[in-house]
Amino acid sequence: MAITHQGAIDQQFEREFAGSCRLYQRARATIAGGITHDSRNLAPFPIYVTRAQGAHKWDVDGHELVDHWMGHGALLLGHNAEPIKAALAAQLELGTHYGACHEAEVEWAELITRLIPSAERVRFTMSGTEATMLALRDARAYTGKSKVIRFAAHFHGWHDYALVGYQPPFEVPASTGIPGEVARTMLIARSNDIDSVRRLLDQHQDVAAVILEPGGGSNGIIPPDPAFLRALRALTAERGVVLIFDEVITGFRYAPGGAQQRYGVIPDLTTLAKIVAGGLPGGAVAGKAAIMDVQVFKGVLEQDRFHRVLQQGTFNANPLSAAAGTAMLRVVAEGQATAQAERLGEQLRAELNAVLKRRGVAGLAYGEASVFQILLGEGIEEAVRRCDVERLMGGRGAVNTLRKALLLEGVDLMRSGGFTSTAHGDAELSRTVSAFDRALARVQAEGLA
Ligand SMILES: Cc1ncc(COP(=O)(O)O)c(C=O)c1O
Repeated sequence: MAITHQGAIDQQFEREFAGSCRLYQRARATIAGGITHDSRNLAPFPIYVTRAQGAHKWDVDGHELVDHWMGHGALLLGHNAEPIKAALAAQLELGTHYGACHEAEVEWAELITRLIPSAERVRFTMSGTEATMLALRDARAYTGKSKVIRFAAHFHGWHDYALVGYQPPFEVPASTGIPGEVARTMLIARSNDIDSVRRLLDQHQDVAAVILEPGGGSNGIIPPDPAFLRALRALTAERGVVLIFDEVITGFRYAPGGAQQRYGVIPDLTTLAKIVAGGLPGGAVAGKAAIMDVQVFKGVLEQDRFHRVLQQGTFNANPLSAAAGTAMLRVVAEGQATAQAERLGEQLRAELNAVLKRRGVAGLAYGEASVFQILLGEGIEEAVRRCDVERLMGGRGAVNTLRKALLLEGVDLMRSGGFTSTAHGDAELSRTVSAFDRALARVQAEGLA
């Protein structure tokens, strides 16, 4: 639950970020709700940024912030990384949209098939949302079945199917406007609980696919269990159900080949976005050729009209995204970037926990690879161990005041955590840790921790 308390942190936030407040008031007159992504909602107003470089960004009030949003996880190399900038500059000279096929999209797909173990074929989309939407359609078309098993609280974007089972109470879709007919095709299992999947498969004969975040639901807030992933792979193979790993976050971050490489569990289909497009808009579905062939034109009218998956998208694999994506994946293929960001992630989690301990504040910093979460309150460790999704999701809301305190100390967290990148170094790490220490002191002074 969000903390609505109006204390010294809120008052100072409103004073120091007055330029953001003014822009937010202006935005609300034209942009519905004033924001363009629900995750950026922050009461009483979100911050407005003017520029970014490396691990830093600057807001309209002149604050320099250590950035842990990292483009919602898209920026493994930080802001404005040289290889990406160079690829984009070169592409700008050549045009931004050909309305035609081009070599960069071929190279981009080749890099994906080289890096991601399950990828034999690739189709590009413009976002992770579109990627999971297409993967579900491919799976349904391939199996001729309609139901999909997903896991409570895992995030797969914001299309109608993805928002069923995303937020507690899980039986109510996370958004209004979703038809009951759509919601009824989605079955909700529990993270790391193979029996919950088996029960659903026993009850429903028409299950096309199981989709999950293999690196832990909701950006790792619910930790992954490799033994569960292995059991899920065996069970779905035995029942002829398509296993989809949503690697929009974990792809190229948990290992150069994603969570599937890290845990040695190979799905049938993989959805990608964020890092795959090097910080530009883009996504992809990758997977077994036998399944992805549902998208192939066979040149036979009856087949192509009635037995094929249709996919369009004006900006799919547009030259700018393809240029940034190929530049990004070439760096990933060299192997050091993912590991470097992970080392910093490990160090950051350890140092944040040391601060919590020193201050006697109940809470936990945790995560995998270059992803971290900070949840405050009693019993978080136990909730993580027990996979208590409701408790963990609830804990995320309670960090709102901490976020504002951290902004006052010069650090921007992505809700309850964020990412490390290769642009973060020891200096940024120590700034984040000392800012966290001072922010906790502010939160403690208000009696909120
Ligand atoms: C695991 C996962 N899947 C899908 C998506 C949706 O991606 P996009 O925001 O590009 O639509 C996200 C976005 O954060 C995600 O984390």
